[in-house]
Amino acid sequence: MAPHQRGLGLAGLAEEEKRGFDLWLLWRLLSYARADWHLFALAGVLILASTGLELAPPYILKIAIDNYLLRPPVAAQAGLVRLAGIYLGITAGVFLTNYWQAYLLQLAGQRVIYRLRQAVFSHLQRLSLSFFDTRPVGQLVTRVANDTQALNQLYTEVLVTLFKDIFLLVGITIAMLSLAPRLALLALVGVPLITLSTALYRHLARKAYRQVRLHLAGVNSFLQEHLSAMRLIQAFGRERANFEQFTRVNQDYYQATMQELTVSAVFRPTMDLINSLVIALLVWYGGGQVIQNLVTFGVLYAMINYTQQFFRPINDMAEKYTIMQAAMAAAEKVLGLLQEKPAVVDAPEVIVRPRWRGEIEFDHVWFAYQPPHWVLRDITFAVRPGETLALVGPTGAGKTSMASLITRFYDVQQGEIRLDGVDIRQMPQGLLRRQIGLVLQDVSLFSGTIAENLILGNPDTSRDRIIRAIEAAQADFVWDLPGGLEARVGERGVNLSLGQRQLLALARALAVDPPVLILDEATASVDSQTEQLIQQALARATAGRTTIVIAHRLSTIQNASRIVVVNHGEIVEQGTHGQLLAVRGLYWRLWQLADQEEKILQSAGKGFGP
Ligand SMILES: Nc1ncnc2c1ncn2[C@@H]1O[C@H](COP(=O)(O)OP(=O)(O)OP(=O)(O)O)[C@@H](O)[C@H]1O
Ligand SMILES: [Mg+2]
Repeated sequence: MAPHQRGLGLAGLAEEEKRGFDLWLLWRLLSYARADWHLFALAGVLILASTGLELAPPYILKIAIDNYLLRPPVAAQAGLVRLAGIYLGITAGVFLTNYWQAYLLQLAGQRVIYRLRQAVFSHLQRLSLSFFDTRPVGQLVTRVANDTQALNQLYTEVLVTLFKDIFLLVGITIAMLSLAPRLALLALVGVPLITLSTALYRHLARKAYRQVRLHLAGVNSFLQEHLSAMRLIQAFGRERANFEQFTRVNQDYYQATMQELTVSAVFRPTMDLINSLVIALLVWYGGGQVIQNLVTFGVLYAMINYTQQFFRPINDMAEKYTIMQAAMAAAEKVLGLLQEKPAVVDAPEVIVRPRWRGEIEFDHVWFAYQPPHWVLRDITFAVRPGETLALVGPTGAGKTSMASLITRFYDVQQGEIRLDGVDIRQMPQGLLRRQIGLVLQDVSLFSGTIAENLILGNPDTSRDRIIRAIEAAQADFVWDLPGGLEARVGERGVNLSLGQRQLLALARALAVDPPVLILDEATASVDSQTEQLIQQALARATAGRTTIVIAHRLSTIQNASRIVVVNHGEIVEQGTHGQLLAVRGLYWRLWQLADQEEKILQSAGKGFGP
């Protein structure tokens, strides 16, 4: 596991520990439950009913003992039968109310979580790329899938337990005080003991839980990192070493879990001990009172019963503490995500035109992913409609960044970018992006059919147009796939070669027929012969279209109307191929190198040839 991941996990957990029970957070969460308030209200009523019913049995037993067993009246038998009937009826009532209450709560909880997942995903899609640059995908998946589920527990277990248990505690206390005030006060001496041991338990449980989370994060990130790099691991024969590393993190996790189990295993017996202590007190003191005829035997019996009942909600609450902590942590993260604002937003007044010619201007543009680390400095150039402009420069010069700015994946910090004279910040983002066909440096395909991938930009694209786009992109390999256009593409296009994926991406951009085309290393992984064919096809396909080509292989861009050379985020030269060679600057040097490479390749070809 990379050390920085461990560090991140620790910082996050330290934060988590500070947090107790945040009322504001609870309030925000309840706002998501508002649409289902009637379900929650009904469940609440049922909870009250079942709690009320649960208070009755000890009292019924008291009546049975005092009124029928100790001093049997004439019709004792009939009375007992009636009481047994009432007892049974109440038990049935408890069963029914508990069943419906649990069902309704789960239903309401699931509905809230469903809505929350929808909200989180649609919010994520609205966020700008700068957000995704700084978040690992795995973390976002956890937010949508797991953290919302943890929240569900908050609704269906914690809040309900809290509500029900508090109600039960109050109910029992009142029942005991009204039955026999002195005995009730005696029983209440258990409360300080309970408070003390619960506080101690919470402290220990929180610490243990934190360790478990820490080591679970360790196991997870180890797995994530190593499973995704299996090819590398097997190639370098790292299996044994990795297994030993895994054993260590796995052992840490195991020990942390055992510690947590020990803490919670001690808690319940401790509570039982206090419980027995209080009952012993009741038997000793209450028994004396029964002998002196100060209270009846039935009352003492009921008091003992209530005391036993009293401990159940307390155990419950302490045991739900861990869940509550996890749920609150999840809640904070999910709500934090929902509060993230997109960095790129539409202006309040936008300019909309039916057709754009495709003139692009960079006007003194400054840009940084993380200010003040400028990636682009004072970039100024213009591409006229229908012109082909090439961007060249060494790795890391800022070419891809310039392309990302035109599609407004990021906003510039200074200067402006214009499309047909309109600042692109004054266009609706959707409209802007529909004017631009983009072939990215790292090609992404979705799992689905070839055809589905090609019509990504417009689901109504005609079959004719798809076929023409495939021709223009030289993606004829499609016809050799089983099923042709209907052939399945694996996740991220794993079952296609890198070059094939690039050809599909090119076809996908061409199928939209946009006024502006941006090709970022679109043919870098394609063999030279195919590349030449694409060049010719592109010359036809891009006629009348503004095209910006980014390429390392300079041979592919010599015919561009203009070449802009960037280095360290600045434009160092621009002109035609001939002009740039004449000034003998950076472009000339790059060209010389490319030329040498070509020759080496050619001589190598001869050397290995027949
Ligand atoms: N998402 C990002 N967040 C932060 N910095 C970035 C990000 N993307 C690129 N950079 C930085 O911006 C600079 C320019 O990167 P860019 O991708 O534009 O280079 P490039 O000219 O396209 O290089 P290449 O020829 O290798 O594709 C680099 O120093 C890079 O480290
Ligand atoms: Mg790039």
